Amino acid sequence: MTDLMEAVTSLAKRRGIAFQSAEIYGGLRSSWDYGPLGVELRRNIRNAWWRATVQLRDDIVGVEAAIVTSPRVWQASGHLETFHDPLVECTNCHQRFRQDDLEANADGVVLCPNCGGAEFTEPKQFNLMLKTFLGPIEDDDAVAYLRPETAQGMFVNFPAVQTVSRKKLPFGIAQIGKSFRNEITPGNFIFRTREFEQMEMEFFVEPGTDDEWFEYWVDQRLQWYLDLGVSKDKLRLRSHDPEELAHYAKAATDVEYEFPFGWQELEGIANRTDFDLDAHQSASGEDLTYFDQEKDARYLPYVVEPAVGVDRALLAFLLDAYRVEEAPTAKGGTDKRTVLGLHRDLAPIKVAVLPLSRNEKLVPEARRVHDVVKPEWISQYDDAGAIGRRYRRQDEVGTPFCVTVDFESLDDHEVTVRERDTMQQDRVPIDNLVSYLRDRL
Ligand code: GAP
Repeated sequence: MTDLMEAVTSLAKRRGIAFQSAEIYGGLRSSWDYGPLGVELRRNIRNAWWRATVQLRDDIVGVEAAIVTSPRVWQASGHLETFHDPLVECTNCHQRFRQDDLEANADGVVLCPNCGGAEFTEPKQFNLMLKTFLGPIEDDDAVAYLRPETAQGMFVNFPAVQTVSRKKLPFGIAQIGKSFRNEITPGNFIFRTREFEQMEMEFFVEPGTDDEWFEYWVDQRLQWYLDLGVSKDKLRLRSHDPEELAHYAKAATDVEYEFPFGWQELEGIANRTDFDLDAHQSASGEDLTYFDQEKDARYLPYVVEPAVGVDRALLAFLLDAYRVEEAPTAKGGTDKRTVLGLHRDLAPIKVAVLPLSRNEKLVPEARRVHDVVKPEWISQYDDAGAIGRRYRRQDEVGTPFCVTVDFESLDDHEVTVRERDTMQQDRVPIDNLVSYLRDRL
């Protein structure tokens, strides 16, 4: 693991962002649990996406479909037949790998990352669907699957959602929810796991306008990361070659992020054409066409889909925000501080309220200030340890503002507000604190 991955993984564990699931039993390589700060960070990522994708637009509505649905959905969508990764096995140590994850060395030879062996079995197509049984009898009739993408919930509900929302094309249906894939090689912390959460949107358009909408969504999605403060030079767009396109796609572009383990897909934008609606229409016998009143014509819309994982986005936000820098100490020296320079909308705690000490007069006053801030933003009260250490603790989890209550506050009813990145301090009347913070959060 690289130093940055190591530092971020250890910070995530130490500060309750994410840790291995069931660690007391030795954990499970592909499963991670999110702690108190991780839960807030995830919620903020989802909210930022939902706000930009649904709430601030008039042309997109939401759904929440079931994770376990009719297996006929997966039959029709092609996932049972074609949702495969090529699997190879090292003939020496018998470890299995995704063939496209293995890279040739400088001599052009692919070596086993586990034992260094150079011989592998022929690639086998390995289906990524996670299978289960519904009900008490485990026979073929009881087979069901955990969804590998949320998208199908939008396709099978297309006519119902279109009717109830009375939307005309172009319009979209968005969903955030868990998906599951039996990945051959999960890894890199929360980058690739077998259980993950997706934020997906199917944008239904008139055929012939799909290429334009595809470009539009690629631009919009790249801009979303920039607006949330992700470094421009760590992001790039990559178009898929025809041979790597998913079975349903006519074109696809990934928003890639330069992770410490290389440039990797952060989000995929695909032109899914009418592949899915057509497949479900044929398999179900139901009419899934759209009636275009202006054109007096009925047709199957084409679909442009941006899709990103909450967990993968969270990893990119954490890595991008992490920095260690020199900072002045109260005694006039310098010290190192770790800062998560998270965008304010993403920061798990927005405000920390800190009495200068545990003095019996300062504590109740600081609690009163905390009560003023709490209804507006997630605020954390902390009186444990030296004030400098408490600032550092908040910097490390990206808290944009620390509000300090000192002895002068008892007389002048003002507090010191310290900003995370500049460390600039302003003296603010408690009566104006909410409006001061509102201007900046
Ligand atoms: N509906 C289209 C679709 O699912 P995808 O490129 O396979 O497309 C979309 O997945 C996004 O979901 C990816 O860009 C990634 O952010 C996330 N994702 C996919 N597989 C994942 C995994 N095993 N672990 C974590 N995130 C994953």
